[in-house]
Amino acid sequence: MDVEINKNCLIEFMINLEYLIYLYNDLLKKDYILDMVSKIILVGMMGAGKTTIGKLLSNKLGFDFIDLDKIIEERSGVKINTIFEIEGEVGFRERELQVLSDSIEKDQVIISTGGGIVTNEKSRARLIKNNALIIYLKANLQTLFNRLKNDNSRPILNVDNKEQVIEKILEQREPLYKELADMVVDTSHMKSIDVVKFIINKMDAT
Ligand code: S3P
Repeated sequence: MDVEINKNCLIEFMINLEYLIYLYNDLLKKDYILDMVSKIILVGMMGAGKTTIGKLLSNKLGFDFIDLDKIIEERSGVKINTIFEIEGEVGFRERELQVLSDSIEKDQVIISTGGGIVTNEKSRARLIKNNALIIYLKANLQTLFNRLKNDNSRPILNVDNKEQVIEKILEQREPLYKELADMVVDTSHMKSIDVVKFIINKMDAT
């Protein structure tokens, strides 16, 4: 009987020990990643999942999450649609550049950018100049269209021929996203949480 109890205790102890080693390794891995990268910038088309994935990634790494569109709306006190109506795309891009310049100075942050940020040369230069890991969250046309077809918060897509407009801007912007990116992740057929795991594994491998 005694021997039996001791055997069970030993098995339980081994399981707990293994679990502790697993937790410790996970912590070490996280510290290692955080030593290497102090900010991450997500670029990609509208509907690619930058906000969702950015939030999940920031929770996982313990970084702050910054959504540039949200800051633009907070600072101006109006929605992006209204900024486009009053100031046009040019005015919006200036605000975007300003918010990017302020946010990019920070460390331990994940920054989610608006899909069109790459169309502004000054914003592109600002993105390149920083020592950030830039991740392009890619998605194919069909996925983007499915995610965006009922959305009316993006002024650029307030058009009748939504699919054609998405196709055209994807074609124009894709080379710019790729040029900036240190890492490209295709989110078309992946759950957000799997995208986050993929990014962390990839960071760990580099
Ligand atoms: C835009 C994308 C939007 C927002 C604005 C313009 C674009 O951000 O900045 O509506 O030109 O692609 P999301 O990519 O977060 O939707």
